[in-house]
Amino acid sequence: VHNYYALSVNKIPVAVLGGTGYAGATLCELIDRHPAFELAFATARTAGELRGGDAQRIPVMPVEDAPLDSAQVVFSALPHGVSAQWVARARTAGARVVDLSADLRPGSGAVGIPYGLTELARDEVRGADVVANPGCYPTAVLLALAPLLRRGLIAPGATIAATAASGVTGAGASPKKELMFAEVADNYRAYGVGNAHRHVAELQAMVARHGTDADLVFTPHLLPVARGILATTVVPVAEPIRDPVALWREDYAGEPFIEVANEPPALRDVVGRNVARVFVTVAANAKRPALIVISAIDNLLKGAGGQAIQNANLMLGLDECAGLPR
Ligand SMILES: NC(=O)c1ccc[n+]([C@@H]2O[C@H](COP(=O)([O-])OP(=O)(O)OC[C@H]3O[C@@H](n4cnc5c(N)ncnc54)[C@H](OP(=O)(O)O)[C@@H]3O)[C@@H](O)[C@H]2O)c1
Repeated sequence: VHNYYALSVNKIPVAVLGGTGYAGATLCELIDRHPAFELAFATARTAGELRGGDAQRIPVMPVEDAPLDSAQVVFSALPHGVSAQWVARARTAGARVVDLSADLRPGSGAVGIPYGLTELARDEVRGADVVANPGCYPTAVLLALAPLLRRGLIAPGATIAATAASGVTGAGASPKKELMFAEVADNYRAYGVGNAHRHVAELQAMVARHGTDADLVFTPHLLPVARGILATTVVPVAEPIRDPVALWREDYAGEPFIEVANEPPALRDVVGRNVARVFVTVAANAKRPALIVISAIDNLLKGAGGQAIQNANLMLGLDECAGLPR
């Protein structure tokens, strides 16, 4: 009992803004199991309580009433447009912040904020005061593309085609007719068609940051499952690449949360885990050399709350893997 108490008072108090949404609730669960974090409070539009482990009762209040200065780390899982002002207030209150919204990501107009695609940004994230956590689709697509982007192997003037499908939690918890069971079940459809999805700006900004002139067209689809993203990205390359897997294996060797697979991944391989599983192969029977990269993540873990914890661990100098399901 004494040991438990000593541990508990030494835990780092953290808070989740928007803790009742899908991303926020995932964070609350991860924090509950985290060896070094303790959930001080969460916010929602109405006041209430969350039940934590050991019969704890975690206060939930409107964000306007939140004691932002009582948390060392604030995770914001508020909607886009709402989040940025609370990130700023949490910063003023002295907390470090991981923002899960799109408000501070590349392509948003915000500048100088580290983009927490952890595997590609450890040096920037380590010791940062505020980090923009990537979108769920961009996490899947950019981890798939990174070995080519880093090496400048994408064909000049190419158009990268990313097609991805997400489970319904990707759309958030607020009720919408098109997300009702009868609309989603036994069905499959594209949405945001016409390269018009919110994540396009983030994806294109990150492609451009790597100094390529490649264009990117992104088409999301809605899958009749609760969670998971599977992305298929077709990339024209400048020269044929005979053994592409070797590049992915080289870049991701020793990465605790990236699995380079020999077979195309499936959602079952990744749901419930903070991992990205990636498969790459050469496009046969094509006139010009191209690669097909398939990546799978759990949108609520590697695509949201899990990656946010990974970033917070680094920001605080903790073990990057602490509290994360592999
Ligand atoms: N879902 C994903 O897979 C995913 C992945 C990556 C990033 N994200 C990002 O994470 C954020 C949350 O997404 P989500 O899917 O978890 O959304 P969500 O399920 O709709 O949750 C939104 C949360 O914010 C609260 N909220 C809503 N409007 C608010 C307002 N005007 N003022 C204060 N609080 C408000 C909600 O409280 P109530 O419960 O009281 O309504 C809820 O706690 C978004 O920025 C999203 O882009 C989500």
